[in-house]
Amino acid sequence: MGRVAGLAGVSVRTLHHYDEIGLVRPSGRTAAGYRTYAADDVERLREVLAYRRLGFGLREVAELVGDPATDAVAHLRRLRGLLLERRDRADAMAAAIDRELESRAKGLPVTPEAQLGMLGARLYDAIGGAYTATRRTEPRIAAQIWDALGDARTVLNVGAGTGSYEPADRHVTAVEPSVVMRGQRPAGSAPCVAAGAEILPFDDGSFDVAMAVSTVHHWGDPLAGLREMRRVARRVVVLTFDTDEPGWQDRFWLTRDYLPEFASILADFPSLAGMADAIGARTEPVPIPWDCADGLFEAYWRRPAAYLEEHVRRAASVWTRVGPRTEQRAVRSLSDDLDSGRWAERNSGLAGLDAADLGLRLLVA
Ligand SMILES: C[S@@+](CC[C@H](N)C(=O)[O-])C[C@H]1O[C@@H](n2cnc3c(N)ncnc32)[C@H](O)[C@@H]1O
Repeated sequence: MGRVAGLAGVSVRTLHHYDEIGLVRPSGRTAAGYRTYAADDVERLREVLAYRRLGFGLREVAELVGDPATDAVAHLRRLRGLLLERRDRADAMAAAIDRELESRAKGLPVTPEAQLGMLGARLYDAIGGAYTATRRTEPRIAAQIWDALGDARTVLNVGAGTGSYEPADRHVTAVEPSVVMRGQRPAGSAPCVAAGAEILPFDDGSFDVAMAVSTVHHWGDPLAGLREMRRVARRVVVLTFDTDEPGWQDRFWLTRDYLPEFASILADFPSLAGMADAIGARTEPVPIPWDCADGLFEAYWRRPAAYLEEHVRRAASVWTRVGPRTEQRAVRSLSDDLDSGRWAERNSGLAGLDAADLGLRLLVA
C-alpha cells in the first residue's frame, strides 16, 4: 500500500479511505498475509484519481468506475476527451481575457454586453464538436451570399465557425471566438482571429466587406457587433432571421407544433428592421431548398424524420438551448405524429415545394 501510495502521489490514508468505502480494494495478498494491489486494482486506482483530479465527487467517481459497460479503453478515451475540453476552455478564457486586457490598455470601453459576448463562444466550446456532422456549405445559399459580396476582394467573416460560406476566390480573414470551432476549420482555410463581433481587432475600413452567417443570434450584443462590422468594412452582408413578421413563430411546423419554446430563445433578439437600420441595409429573403445540404435548424422542413436523429439535433444549437426535457418531449411528439400519419396530414402542402421561406433573411449594406 505504501509503495502504491508513493507511486500515485497520494497518502496511505487516502488509499485506506478508498478501501473502506469500497472504491478501490487491494485484492491481492502477500505470503505473510498483507494486502497488495493487483494490476486491475492499480488500473482502477488510476481511473479514480484521474476523475478526482478532474473535479468529480467520490460518489460520481464510484458510479463512473463501477459501470460494467465501460472498459479501461473507454475510460481512457473519456478522460482524454474531458482533459482536452478543459484545456480548450482554459485557452478560450485566456484568449478572452487577453482581448479585454488589450481593449483596457487602449482605453477602449468594455461594455457588460461585450464581456458577456464570450458566453456565446462558451456555448460553441461545449456543443461545437458535433457541428461538422451535418453543417456544411449549401451551394444555393452560398451563391446568394457570394452574389451579395459583389466585387469585394477582401472579406472579413465574423462568427466564421468552420468557414462553410467563405468564398474561395477572395482574400478572407475569419473571426471566431470559440476555440473548438477554430480547431475544426479545415487545413488550408483562411487565417482565423480569436475575437467576438462586439470588439473587432481591426482598424476602420480594413476590409471591402464584412460578412456574418447564422451567427448574430449568438452574439451578446448583436447591434454593437453589426456596427463593428460596419466600422471595419465598407460593406456588410449578414444572413440572419426575421422575427418582425406577425405570427413568425408559426411559419415553420417544427416550432409551431412541436417546439414553441423556440420563440423564447429569440425573445431578446433585435428586430430585423432594427438590425437593418444599424447598418443601413436592405433585406432579401433566403429560401431554404428542400434538400438543403447545410443542417441548419430549418434545413429538414420537408424531411421531418431527420429531426429524430440525435446527430442532426446536436449540430443545431436550438436543441441544446431549449434543454433536454423540452427536446425529448418535442421529438417524442413528432415521432408519434410521423407514425400515425398526423404530420403528413397537417403538412400535405409541403410535398410539392422545392424551397421554403422560413424567415432567413440577407441584410445587404
Ligand atoms: C451556427 S455557427 C455559424 C458558423 C458559420 N458562420 C457557418 O455558417 O457555418 C455560429 C457561430 O457564431 C460564433 N459566435 C458566438 N458568439 C459570437 C460572438 N459574440 N461573436 C462572433 N461569433 C460568435 C460561434 O462560436 C459559432 O461558431
